[in-house]
Amino acid sequence: MEAREQWGTKIGFILAATGSAIGLGNIWKFPFITGMYGGAAFVLAYIVCIALIGFPVMIIEFAIGRKTQRNPVGAFEKLAPGTPWFLAGGLGVAAGFVILSYYSVVAGWTLGYVFMAIADVFKNFTKPAEAGDYFANFAANPLFTIGTHLAFMALCVFVVIKGVKGGIERFSKIMMPVLLSIIIVLMIRGLTLPGAEKGLSFLFLPDFSKLNGTTVLVALGHAFFTLSLGMGTMLTYGSYLSRRDNIISSAVTIVILDTGIALMAGVAIFTAVFAHGLAPDQGSALIFHVLPTVFPKIPGGYIFGIMFFFLLLIAALTSGISLLEVVIAYFVDEKGWSRRKATLVFGGIIFAMGVPSALSHGPLADMKFFFGMTFFDFMDYMSFKYMLPLGGFLMTIFVAYFWGAKEFIAEIQSGCPKFSIRPVAAVVIITISGILILVTLIAGIMGLGG
Ligand code: TRP
Repeated sequence: MEAREQWGTKIGFILAATGSAIGLGNIWKFPFITGMYGGAAFVLAYIVCIALIGFPVMIIEFAIGRKTQRNPVGAFEKLAPGTPWFLAGGLGVAAGFVILSYYSVVAGWTLGYVFMAIADVFKNFTKPAEAGDYFANFAANPLFTIGTHLAFMALCVFVVIKGVKGGIERFSKIMMPVLLSIIIVLMIRGLTLPGAEKGLSFLFLPDFSKLNGTTVLVALGHAFFTLSLGMGTMLTYGSYLSRRDNIISSAVTIVILDTGIALMAGVAIFTAVFAHGLAPDQGSALIFHVLPTVFPKIPGGYIFGIMFFFLLLIAALTSGISLLEVVIAYFVDEKGWSRRKATLVFGGIIFAMGVPSALSHGPLADMKFFFGMTFFDFMDYMSFKYMLPLGGFLMTIFVAYFWGAKEFIAEIQSGCPKFSIRPVAAVVIITISGILILVTLIAGIMGLGG
């Protein structure tokens, strides 16, 4: 068997992991939930949650991955042989299937919108309602949604099949600078619009009366999602690290980049929305209903519209490949499959699993599969409300009480010898993160928190 691959360079790894973290979560979800839950006060809650949960859990995933050099299932088997802990890893691999199958459908919409922006479809829209009708028709058309879903999955397969260094790392090294440049251009465009300051104060001047239990719960859940935590994505990416790499500084960089890009996307979007007197609290429709009516009114809007949807597509792609890689790593490590075979077979299976999701806003819209939800909504609920928080919670318990803080700290110190913390303190911090994740999980089960 061939030796297991590793990242070629430190920056390559950071860009790939940042690429996983930055996705639809940053550019689609973060702005719309910020709009719904009160602007700056929500942003503040979100940043606190990133520090309290996101950062420690990311370090946990990197440490387990690098220590074991395995996929999520193999990693738990190696650290806790003969125990049921491998099931926690299995939950992660299963989540990879579930999430990618419908993430790819949404990513397909953004792919479709790149072409619509190029075809200058937006110029006809005067009101969000018109753009909304257009979007509803698009999402209901099976040919479009299955076609774009297939195209997106094919792109993911194309990158992942080439391997960790030659595929994922190379692609991320090219695409992340492109992503960063586009977002800077869009942010400057937003900031130079008349009336931009209203957008900025919405994002950065907190109105603390808007802070309540729901806001905090949504912020907690999103902190987790935006950093790709809870299903072993970061664990898998960490498993391609070498002993010399510094886990702490890598995690700091990734967290700062992810949060920075989300804020920049917020600036780009809210300056434009407020400059045109539109409402910020449109929910998930913000991007597909509101923005297409904004672009035609902005000087250079044609180009900025194309850039925006292309940005969204790149962000989704670097996240999509990280979801696929978790599944592939499992079949390569544990079942001895070749990367090529595993990628083709499971890329195909995940595509097939996504078809009912692709049809959920059209032919299958009235078909309620589970608990009155469409297939698409059910996949979304299952993964983000239950599987991810459960996975993350199990990882914190595992590190604090089974693997042990001493071993965990020793793993971090390899590559970062200056790092020191008392084992008790580490256990306390990890337990706090674990409890916060558990709160999100229970709130999700009770139907709270968005
Ligand atoms: N973090 C990505 C986003 O913000 C989504 C994502 C990719 C993800 N891989 C993940 C979320 C793994 C949770 C777990 O869009």
